[in-house]
Amino acid sequence: MASEEGERIDDIYLFTSIICIIVFAIVAAITVYAVIKFRAKPGDMEDGSPIHGNTAIEITWTIIPTILVTAIGIWSAVVVVQNDNLPSGHRVINVEARQFAWSFSYPDERDGLQGMQMGELVVPVNQPLELHMTSPDVIHSFWVPEWRQKQDVVPGITTFYRITPTETGIYAIVCTELCGLGHSVMRSRVRVLTQEGFEIWRLERQNAVDQGGVSLGASVFQDLGCAACHSLDAASAMGTIGPDLDNVLPGQSVDELRQSIVNPDVVITEGFSEGLMPSFSSVPDEQLESLIEYLFESVEGLGS
Ligand code: CUA
Repeated sequence: MASEEGERIDDIYLFTSIICIIVFAIVAAITVYAVIKFRAKPGDMEDGSPIHGNTAIEITWTIIPTILVTAIGIWSAVVVVQNDNLPSGHRVINVEARQFAWSFSYPDERDGLQGMQMGELVVPVNQPLELHMTSPDVIHSFWVPEWRQKQDVVPGITTFYRITPTETGIYAIVCTELCGLGHSVMRSRVRVLTQEGFEIWRLERQNAVDQGGVSLGASVFQDLGCAACHSLDAASAMGTIGPDLDNVLPGQSVDELRQSIVNPDVVITEGFSEGLMPSFSSVPDEQLESLIEYLFESVEGLGS
């Protein structure tokens, strides 16, 4: 558990679980006791004596559960309000969920990362965040198990996800809405860095943008998460889900390469299936062109 909101959610779960354990223990104990104590003697064929109920017990087993369930309800409502409350000065990050990939961008001018798109989420610890989430195709759902909060991403509207990470580390981002064939591979990750670590990461991105060209392309290759699926010697990338770029790219033209990134289903490499690679058509032009430039620089024989 790695967020302020998650801590509150866990407290309710613990409270509810304790209630369940106690109630179950009492019911099970009485049941076992009754089975043993009131067992019919061998040869006893008589009917049991008629009982008309017991008002005191019935009132007790109505009132106690009512109090417990109401307490869970009230506590939950308080936590929902607390978890929805967003302190001013929070950071806004845009999230786009599409079949079948997550992408993140940082619209806040203070971050100086406008126009950049990332394939993984990078955030500083102990700072409140609001994710503004959109989808161009179908319904997805954003979930980081360790953060506990979960929110649907719905085409046509913007949904919001508020979180204050409290632990640094790398956590999985999982899509929890069945969204098509690639649903199970629709994963990314979030890196929660210290304040200083985030600042270094941010400045590295800014530098790459300032230098442009191949250095930006190398950064884009990492930022978009290409290495998770593809192998590329120049980037020490060893992914095996998609084609090995050092093998498949030689001989391709710039336009073919661009098409493979923006519209990957038009030409499928033998041995791989359609719909596996998401379209990167929403990547800003500057990033896309620098990525192409970088791949040209890195792969021998590309464009020849
Ligand atoms: Cu997107 Cu499941």
